[in-house]
Amino acid sequence: SPSKASKAGGRPLSSPCRWWNSLPDLMMGPGERQPLLQVHGVRFAYPPLAPHSPAPWVLDGLDLRLEAGEWLALMGASDAGKTTLCLLLAGLAPHLTGGTLEGRVLIAGQDTRRRPPPALADRVGLLFQEPDAQLFNPSVEAEIAWGLENLGLPSAEIEARIAEMLALFHLEAVRRRPPGALSGGEKKRAALAAVLALRPALLILDEPLGGLDPVGRREVLAALETLRRDRAAAILMTESDPEAAVAFADRLAVLHEGRLAAQGPPRDLLRRVEAMAAWGVAAPQMAHLAAALNRRLGTAFDFVTVEEARAALEPGWGGVESGPLEAQRPASPPPDDAAGRPPALQVRGLEFWYDAARPVLRGLDLDIPQGQFAALVGANGSGKTTLIKQFNGLLRPRRGIVRVNGQDAAGRSIGELARQVGFLFQHPEQQIFSPTVRQEVAFGPRNLGLPPEEVEARVRAALDRFDLAAVADEPPAILGYGLRRRVTLASLAAQDPPILILDEPTVGLDAAGRAETFAWLTELHAQGRTILLVSHDMALVAAYARRVIVLHAGQIIGDGPPSAIFARPDLLARASLAPPPLAQLAQALGLPPSCLTVDAFCAEYAARR
Ligand SMILES: Nc1ncnc2c1ncn2[C@@H]1O[C@H](COP(=O)(O)OP(=O)(O)OP(=O)(O)O)[C@@H](O)[C@H]1O
Ligand SMILES: [Mg+2]
Repeated sequence: SPSKASKAGGRPLSSPCRWWNSLPDLMMGPGERQPLLQVHGVRFAYPPLAPHSPAPWVLDGLDLRLEAGEWLALMGASDAGKTTLCLLLAGLAPHLTGGTLEGRVLIAGQDTRRRPPPALADRVGLLFQEPDAQLFNPSVEAEIAWGLENLGLPSAEIEARIAEMLALFHLEAVRRRPPGALSGGEKKRAALAAVLALRPALLILDEPLGGLDPVGRREVLAALETLRRDRAAAILMTESDPEAAVAFADRLAVLHEGRLAAQGPPRDLLRRVEAMAAWGVAAPQMAHLAAALNRRLGTAFDFVTVEEARAALEPGWGGVESGPLEAQRPASPPPDDAAGRPPALQVRGLEFWYDAARPVLRGLDLDIPQGQFAALVGANGSGKTTLIKQFNGLLRPRRGIVRVNGQDAAGRSIGELARQVGFLFQHPEQQIFSPTVRQEVAFGPRNLGLPPEEVEARVRAALDRFDLAAVADEPPAILGYGLRRRVTLASLAAQDPPILILDEPTVGLDAAGRAETFAWLTELHAQGRTILLVSHDMALVAAYARRVIVLHAGQIIGDGPPSAIFARPDLLARASLAPPPLAQLAQALGLPPSCLTVDAFCAEYAARR
């Protein structure tokens, strides 16, 4: 029988096999459509690390269907199995990963176990969580062309699709550049362009928005919406941004410890703030606000979007006499506790270019005083990573001066600078090189020449803090992205430098990981450490940073407290940024721009009621 033939393995697919695979189609009644994706009783385990060692089920009993034109968001804690599920749905697991698969994954009725990934390339497109895992061609345009050539499309069609994708993702200026010469967000866009160019019926996207600036996120979501509408593409995306799931997905599936813990309309699930937290999923900021108001004031609000919140809150707002309260409120936000201290980080007339024809940093002057918690924000490619790499000596100014704690960085080696400046790279794989998690975390403190007991104590505390004790003796390479990110955070915590520079520390982290990271940063700030954070997460920046520096095309176009910066939509738009939901709501209700946290908003609301 055909199924026996395929079990014999390695045999090229013959016509009876094809006939068998299309049987489900023939058996459908008139008007009935076969789901594009069917997952039946799937369990999956990676190959064991050592022969005969146990290999746990990473996915453990999963059923899922996706119809053409449907958009499913998949959310869950780090390590829930999201990336593994993506690899499985695209047929890469177990073909490339090895491991054990039970149950069946059918794409357009075809069992992925019988179809090697190339045979499915015209039906399913996979975006890897890490663009570096995907980009291997010498240029952006070659990357997009590669898949199209493999599909055997005519060259005119290939050219047209490349042009369309370069325009859609604003990649024209970097089309000839190798992936290594792109910013983090540009890499993500290039990887997305290469996948979307193939126009597959089924798109499996592992964190398509991670590392994109706010405007870029909206653009990608709009492009996906168009593909779904015009070509009935089915989309499955993992995403940590609940606002995006509410706005775009038809359905949300929560993955928890390898099983689907819940499925349903995103809005209905994501308003359950506590249940979501237990599954490691962040709820929308507005749902947090509703829950906090209800808890503290006994109200019965139920909103998850800014529009809903505005409609619910505005009626109670109008008649309130706000005069006396205005007088009680401090006229401006509390002064920055660090202003006036000597600079920890300083640049004067800083210019930098990778290639002389394209200036990247165009004459920057900046002082970050000791003890300040500052955030650096700006569009993908605006120069954020390029700027912060000047402080650890990975890049050196072409013109101008960089000082760390008052000393010119020019004469100092990377190693010397590392004693003062701890650095978290944008991508964990740029940073991790030790054979075990424990050794990786110990590297920093050991390098400082600390006594072994002290190294040991710091490593233990850092592993605990970032919940890594259970994987301490595993090789970092086998961990998922979120866990590897936590390893890099733990390394920095163990090193405990006076100045910390973090390049997008929360990308790939789940809700608990983000909360833990910011609790840690807040503690460090209270202890007087200097923190410079690069982030595209405006809600976190607004809530935690004391100062926001806006970079646009290599120049600083805004610099001030979050309340001032997030009250300027014009400035934000110029830098491809957008205010976080709370700032949008505060603006809509005419509240002071200092209402940037759920707590501040609740206090304001309670006072006005
Ligand atoms: N190694 C490199 N060689 C050449 N050009 C580069 C290199 N790295 C970055 N660039 C370019 O320099 C500019 C600034 O890049 P940078 O990585 O500093 O941006 P970014 O603000 O950190 O962006 P993102 O938010 O995407 O991480 C971009 O135009 C980018 O394409
Ligand atoms: Mg960057």
